[in-house]
Amino acid sequence: MRRRFEKLVMKAAEHHELTKEELLCILQPEDDEEKILLFKKADEVRQRYCGDDVHLRGIIEFSNICEKNCLYCGLRKDNHKLNRYRIPEEEILNAAKKAYFLGYRTIVLQSGEDSWYTVDRLCGIVRKIKQHLDVAVTLCIGERTYEEYRELRKVGADRYLLKHETANPLLYSRLHPGMLFYDRINRLKWLKELGYQVGAGNIVGLPGQSIEDLADDILFLKQMDVDMAGIGPFIPHGNTPLGKTSGGTLDLTLRVLACTRLLLPRVHLPATTAVGTLHPYGREKALQCGANVVMPNITPAKYRKDYEIYPNKICIDEEPEHCRGCIQRRIESIGRTVATDYGHSLKLNKRGA
Ligand code: 5AD
Ligand code: SF4
Ligand code: FES
Repeated sequence: MRRRFEKLVMKAAEHHELTKEELLCILQPEDDEEKILLFKKADEVRQRYCGDDVHLRGIIEFSNICEKNCLYCGLRKDNHKLNRYRIPEEEILNAAKKAYFLGYRTIVLQSGEDSWYTVDRLCGIVRKIKQHLDVAVTLCIGERTYEEYRELRKVGADRYLLKHETANPLLYSRLHPGMLFYDRINRLKWLKELGYQVGAGNIVGLPGQSIEDLADDILFLKQMDVDMAGIGPFIPHGNTPLGKTSGGTLDLTLRVLACTRLLLPRVHLPATTAVGTLHPYGREKALQCGANVVMPNITPAKYRKDYEIYPNKICIDEEPEHCRGCIQRRIESIGRTVATDYGHSLKLNKRGA
C-alpha cells in the first residue's frame, strides 16, 4: 500500500495529473510517514513554481449586510443577532491608502451580498482606489449580473473571488437556499471571459460532505483552471442552522491544500484566516503544505468583530499596522519572504498576457 501512495504522490508532484481514484488515495495518507511525504512534496512544488515569496492581500470587509442565507455563515440574512454595518466610502478609501503605505499591493474589497451597493457606487470606489493607489484590486462581493461584472472590470478591478464552496451540486443547493451550483459556474466563466484573474475555492468539512466531494472540489478547480483557490475549514457558527454540527479539521484542510498544490502547481493558494483560527500556527502550517498567499485583515478595528462569518475569528481587536508586522514575522519565521510586487496570476506569463 505504502508503495502505491508514494508512487502517486511522486506522479502528482511531477505531472500534476491524477485520476479521481488516485487523488482519493493521496488525500488519505494511512500513517504519519505518508502524510509527511504528501506535505513535503506539496511544499517542493510550491517552491518550484512560486518560489519563497508570500503574497499579501489586504482585505477590507466593507459591509456585513447580506441578502443570502447560506446555512453555514454568520452573515446570513436570518441571523438577527448580528450588528450590521456599511463602512462609509471615505473610510474605505482611507483604509486602502493606509494599506498601501503598509506595503500592500493588492486590496481585496469583500462584503456580503448587499444590493445597496449599486454598480455605480462600487465603480466609484474601485475607480478611486485605482486612480490614487498603485495596487491590484480584487472584488469578493458575490453574485452579480454580467453587465455589473463588465462595468467593474472596465473601471479597473483586476481580480474576482467567487468561491464555489462545494462542487457537489446537491450539497450546494442544500446549503444555499435559492441558489444553484450551475449559476455559480456560469459566473466563474463570465468572470474569466471578462479578463478577470479568477478565484474559486471550497469549504472543508461541511456537514454531509464526503472525501469524494473534496476530490471533486480539487478536480473542479483544475478543470476551471482558476488563478486562485481559497480553501478553508468549516467553523460552525452558533447563530446558524449548522451551529451544532462539527467543523472541518486542520489536518483534513492541510491535506486538501497539499493535494491542490500538487495538481495545480501555478495556483495562488492562501493560508486562510479560518485555518489561523483553528490553530495558533495554522497559517504557517498551511504555508508549508503548498500555500503561498496570506490575506491579512485591513478593516478598521471598530468594524472587525461584526464581520463574524464564523466565531473566534483571529485579529478582531487588532489594527492593520499590528497585523502587518505580525504576519511579516510569521512568514520570516518559517524562512519565507514577503513579496513586494502585485502578485498577479502565476499563469499570466504562460498565457502570454
Ligand atoms: N466556516 C468557514 N468558512 C465560512 N465561510 C462562511 N461561513 C463560514 C464558516 N462558518 C466562508 C465562505 C464564504 C466566505 C465569505 O466565508 O467560503 O465564501
Ligand atoms: Fe452572504 Fe457570503 Fe455569508 Fe452566503 S457566505 S450568507 S453570500 S456573506
Ligand atoms: Fe492579525 Fe497576527 S495577523 S494579529
